[in-house]
Amino acid sequence: MPRVTFIARDGSIDVCDAEEGWTLLQVSRAFGIEIEGACEGNMACATCHVIVQDPWYQRLLAPSDDEEDMLDLAYGLTETSRLGCQIELTANLDGLVVRLPDTGENL
Ligand code: FES
Repeated sequence: MPRVTFIARDGSIDVCDAEEGWTLLQVSRAFGIEIEGACEGNMACATCHVIVQDPWYQRLLAPSDDEEDMLDLAYGLTETSRLGCQIELTANLDGLVVRLPDTGENL
């Protein structure tokens, strides 16, 4: 059961025990984390943008070209930005830490 830590915009922390196979967006929905996810994981928005904390970014599968294109639309893009709907949790990601971008006004 991978454990995920979300750091909110105000610095508050939520620790969530997720199911393997869930996406980060699904975890946020299950635990009431404030990630919009307007397109419900169809990679047609960037409102599920999260910033993956080191060293976790390197452990993720590389983003697809489509994800990178969509990330270009995300507000507050960083070197370790990803779309939450594209991160699928595995046992290898137990302990993952992500931060929500400073503004919720993503595209
Ligand atoms: Fe729209 Fe992730 S929910 S791209």
